[in-house]
Amino acid sequence: MSPDTLKAWDQHHVWHPFTPMSEYADGDEAVVVERGEGVRLQDVDGNWYYDGVSSVWLNVHGHNVPALNEAITEQLGKVAHSTLLGQGNVPATRLAKRLADASPDGGLQHVFYSDSGATAVEIALKTAIQFWANHGREEKRQVMGFTHNYHGDTLGAMTVAPDETFHWPFLHLLPERPRAPYPYAYRCPFDTDTASGCRDAALEETGRLLDEHADRLAALIVEPVEGAGGMIPAPEGFLAGLRALCDEHDVLLIVDEVATGFGRTGPLFACDSEGVTPDLMCLGKGLTGGYLPVAATLATGDVYDAFLGERDNALYHGHSYTGNQLGCAVALRSLDLLEDLLPTLPDKIALIEERLAPLAEHPFVGDVRQRGFMCGLELVADRDTKARFPWKAQPGYAVSEAARDHGLLLRPIGSTVIFMPPLASTEEELHAMLDRLEAAFDDARPALRTLAEDALAGTVA
Ligand SMILES: Cc1ncc(COP(=O)(O)O)c(C=O)c1O
Repeated sequence: MSPDTLKAWDQHHVWHPFTPMSEYADGDEAVVVERGEGVRLQDVDGNWYYDGVSSVWLNVHGHNVPALNEAITEQLGKVAHSTLLGQGNVPATRLAKRLADASPDGGLQHVFYSDSGATAVEIALKTAIQFWANHGREEKRQVMGFTHNYHGDTLGAMTVAPDETFHWPFLHLLPERPRAPYPYAYRCPFDTDTASGCRDAALEETGRLLDEHADRLAALIVEPVEGAGGMIPAPEGFLAGLRALCDEHDVLLIVDEVATGFGRTGPLFACDSEGVTPDLMCLGKGLTGGYLPVAATLATGDVYDAFLGERDNALYHGHSYTGNQLGCAVALRSLDLLEDLLPTLPDKIALIEERLAPLAEHPFVGDVRQRGFMCGLELVADRDTKARFPWKAQPGYAVSEAARDHGLLLRPIGSTVIFMPPLASTEEELHAMLDRLEAAFDDARPALRTLAEDALAGTVA
């Protein structure tokens, strides 16, 4: 099949996620990936690109990794999939034990599998609500989320993170409920200049909301780093503060580590860096090293025990591919590789920080944010006033399109350019990616200048 035919079929037949298809179908030629090798991907035209966002936050060890490939083929020679409804399988059992032991302080010993981050979140939400129902507290049936956090695109996940831009046709399905303020230090909603001041004010307001609504709240759900909301790390101490508030108010704490889990922030889980054990923890993305769709919701003994006893107490929830053997086998091998990889991360994180620092001087960069391998560079129309680009201007694409010309694949979110390389990238590969990122920011200056002028003149809505 010719590359041109494949690209034409891709643009016509594949309905891409989170993609305005008229622009995609009419736009520049798409990248249609044919193979991967290490931290690079090759398209059907033979061009090689660095995977600068880990294939949208999944990839840990690179692509086409012999040890991971082997884990899948070994398992394939035994069985690809059998149900987890009322029976077990070997890789899912071994992986559950491994996750339970690796969970923060070993405190989450029970593992409910699913197949995407959103389903891991749905399960956490339903578990939290039924936890209280099983205790005879049916009035505690709401879950409070944080402003601009993102938990996936299924209905329950949208309910705790409604977004007017993305969810406008569905807002009538999303009941009104309180939302707590996320400590976005660069644009702190409170009158303070410091990240710690912003954290404390956000905690205080969250406490006030809990005082008011705890009687109706089953749980609070939070991202340790606000990912899709613009790659915004919560200042250190925020998770620990939430843990204390939830304990005080008899509300479960759900930490969504779908993006942050498996070393992405440095330690295995973001919760580890604050010594926090949530009641429920959602995992996905990097769980299989970015190879196969396996997700998991981990629960404490207290939560799990509430589902024992009467038949009606059980959690009647499941998905066809729950506990898929191929996925669990590759997840186990990925965790083996992570043991050697984790100690190498601090040096690489420092390298990224050092290389990103000069970009803070770029005329259209307002804020450079980083937690581990999760980096976001927020573009602004005016650095002095922090004036935003309008949503429709999509300035991040000026940078990502330039990056593609330099052989680096990025996927921006609105005004934020995301850089999130695979954790296994060598220092040399990180330098190569950061050279390309820097070049892309340089090349994008004229386009950003035009967009900024339009934004400041109010000609883009
Ligand atoms: C924090 C967080 N939770 C949930 C999800 C949803 O995961 P999935 O796309 O696998 O459904 C994402 C995806 O980006 C995420 O970043």
